Amino acid sequence: MRPDTPTFIAVAKAKDVRPGQIKSVRARGGHELSLANVGGRFYAFSAYCPHNGWPLKWGALEEATIVCGLHLWRFDLETGEALDPPGAACLETYPVRVEDGVIYVGVSTEAKLEAPSSPSRP
Ligand code: FES
Repeated sequence: MRPDTPTFIAVAKAKDVRPGQIKSVRARGGHELSLANVGGRFYAFSAYCPHNGWPLKWGALEEATIVCGLHLWRFDLETGEALDPPGAACLETYPVRVEDGVIYVGVSTEAKLEAPSSPSRP
């Protein structure tokens, strides 16, 4: 396997992430990530905002964009790009597959999913 080939790991049942919902789940090793269902399409991304570490499960979805609940930064869920403010730190995103009602998230064998942490104060 090439080092950049992701390994897909099961993280949740698709029925447990309803349309419009953001859900925090624990993956292999106890690491936490967020899942979002946007009109039946699933996205996986870091559990915490790259700005100040706010839990993104407390954010809001605007189509395929997540708005952090603390300072309202916006990130594209496809690319992780910061949309507002532009050029800010990107959100870590992960490829997603759904098979037989199970959500699988692709992680690099080199990558470590973000460990749970407490948000810092704004
Ligand atoms: S912590 Fe998310 S925008 Fe500041």
